[in-house]
Amino acid sequence: MFLDTANVKEIEAMQVFHWLTGVTTNPTLLAKEIGKSRAVISREILSILHDEQRLFVQATGETQEALYDDAQAILSLDTRIALKIPADEIGFRVITQLKQERPDIEILATAIFSVEQSYLAALAGCEWVAPYVNRMANQGLDAKQVVASTAELFKQLEAPTKILGASFKNTAQVIDTLLAGATDVTIPSNLIQVIMHNKLAADSIHVFNQDAKGEKI
Ligand code: G3P
Repeated sequence: MFLDTANVKEIEAMQVFHWLTGVTTNPTLLAKEIGKSRAVISREILSILHDEQRLFVQATGETQEALYDDAQAILSLDTRIALKIPADEIGFRVITQLKQERPDIEILATAIFSVEQSYLAALAGCEWVAPYVNRMANQGLDAKQVVASTAELFKQLEAPTKILGASFKNTAQVIDTLLAGATDVTIPSNLIQVIMHNKLAADSIHVFNQDAKGEKI
């Protein structure tokens, strides 16, 4: 499980549980951390991640050159950073370029709304694809089916590309995505809190605690 945030406090709070494979950020999440640059936030996050935990940072740019330069700027920040590159034509051009130059770089193809994008990402040698589950649902798309078909296709192709489900607004979407065959999910901190503060569980736990103290409720 990854944490989908650029907030250092949220990551610190979650690190205690040893659940995290890493952290995913995007430009929108970074923009919420007012007054801090991407480089500063990335270094702060890396300082609290263990060596084996990945930090994904997303490159931006409206031309191939701009996107490529931004990817290089991200990679120069720290060797533990993996790249997120959007899965459109410019993105695939940059992914191809980067993979030719440095095959060791780990790339996650992001902004995935179709099995077809994931197919191209697997052919391009991406280590990860990130289907945007809630954003698909907002467009009336069957995100669970998209993830299931992607998993089936990767299996058939024997592609090593992993599916990292992203863009979740409720916990059912997370579980549906995993059951559909996603290797991993990246979840906002508030959804992990929702799971840990299940109202029915809280009611039962309250009764147990009262009974343990011999108190009538
Ligand atoms: O990591 C990408 C994903 O976080 C987008 O999520 O919640 O903005 O749809 P969201």
